[in-house]
Amino acid sequence: MTPVALFPMTPGLCHELYRGWQNDPAICADPARFRPFRYDPDWVDRYFARQQTPDRRYFAILAGGTVVGELLLKRIDRAAGTCALSIHLQNDSVKNKGYGTRAEKLAVAYAFDRLGLRAVLADAVKGNARSRHVLEKAGFAPCGEDETFAGYRIEKPEP
Ligand SMILES: CC(C)(COP(=O)(O)OP(=O)(O)OC[C@H]1O[C@@H](n2cnc3c(N)ncnc32)[C@H](O)[C@@H]1OP(=O)(O)O)[C@@H](O)C(=O)NCCC(=O)NCCS
Repeated sequence: MTPVALFPMTPGLCHELYRGWQNDPAICADPARFRPFRYDPDWVDRYFARQQTPDRRYFAILAGGTVVGELLLKRIDRAAGTCALSIHLQNDSVKNKGYGTRAEKLAVAYAFDRLGLRAVLADAVKGNARSRHVLEKAGFAPCGEDETFAGYRIEKPEP
């Protein structure tokens, strides 16, 4: 099995990731707003810079040492003991190989063991069946929905 790891994102990895990037229509609540991605080095520099905030951890997902996606732990709230997970793999060639499930499990373990948090939240566009299935495979439970999004949550197990 190809080893999967989370590695703190670097500018070099971020450019490598986005040079081969395809936006996935499944994340668009409104399909009319979908736009294909075109690599723009200046955009990548600005995007990378925006992730460098104290309430975020921005990871490259590596499979066999190659960057195949990104994962963010956002809105890290140490008082509440929570954060929110988002994930996007690079393009269709790296999907459905088990990388997303394993990356989510690694991120949840990081949130609990390294950040000392008690719960991780996530949401998915309601029609994004693959993302919802993968969140549940990684241990998240549904926790409500609105017109557009389904919410998920995973709690740190009691010791
Ligand atoms: C969602 C995502 C992170 C999942 O990662 P992945 O590596 O592709 O997923 P995995 O290979 O770990 O698992 C895929 C699972 O979904 C299932 N699946 C695939 N397409 C599906 C579909 N259309 N509907 C339901 N399940 C589907 C697969 O059968 C597999 O489940 P199984 O192991 O029980 O058979 C990845 O596909 C991705 O980045 N998608 C685009 C962005 C996105 O949707 N991000 C999430 C935003 S909330």
